[in-house]
Amino acid sequence: MSRVPVIAGNWKMHGTVAESRRLAADLRAAIAPGDGSREVVVAPPFTALAGVAETLRGSTIELGAQNVHWEAKGAFTGEVSVSMLLEAGCRWVIVGHSERRQLFGETDEGVNLRTRAALAGGLKPIVCVGETLAEREADRTLEVVGRQTRAALLQMKAADIQTLCFAYEPVWAIGTGRTATPDQAEEVHAKVRAVVAELAGAGTAERVRILYGGSVKPDNIDSLMARVNVDGALVGGASLDAASFARIVAFQV
Ligand code: PGA
Repeated sequence: MSRVPVIAGNWKMHGTVAESRRLAADLRAAIAPGDGSREVVVAPPFTALAGVAETLRGSTIELGAQNVHWEAKGAFTGEVSVSMLLEAGCRWVIVGHSERRQLFGETDEGVNLRTRAALAGGLKPIVCVGETLAEREADRTLEVVGRQTRAALLQMKAADIQTLCFAYEPVWAIGTGRTATPDQAEEVHAKVRAVVAELAGAGTAERVRILYGGSVKPDNIDSLMARVNVDGALVGGASLDAASFARIVAFQV
């Protein structure tokens, strides 16, 4: 089973509408039109989504959001619904990023609710999992990532599970310039796939794409992508530079 790799750029809280549209235009120029061999996604801040959608119209670069709420509408100050994101042009959404978990109290339960709502509404979730440095040093990495993966998939059907992506993002590698080695990434990706196999069967697990995130750069993408269970990347800092992101998209194995 060959899985189409996904390279996603998480712009985090960077970019006014004008800046985001400029970056999107630069990316459009820098990234060769897709030949179907890889999918490319960018996730700008909410306020820039509609503008970036317009800039990217007709290109093969797809749009994602950085979060989504599980309710359709209502008194949920500060939250954004699936239908709002679809209308803005999104096809993807990042769920459970470690910054959401660590800084904004996102729980495993919330990650599950957001993931299910996204899938039900037709958005493709990129579900983030990953251990802290303290957890890795205590040799708890596989236990923590296993728990997060299991919790994210509660009450979900195999048919839905196979359409989502996971992103393994060790917290100690995010924005630090410290990347997991290809061996470290491979070990955890294999664990995520094993948990999916246990819950949804081997066929589903073979289809699920597992991205790596945490200081992905032009000079480490090729060795990460060479590993069998690494099916793409979720890129933060390097996605804000069009030339860097284009080189990551053009990874070679
Ligand atoms: P980074 O961020 O590439 O800047 O480490 C990755 C992420 O948080 O998704």
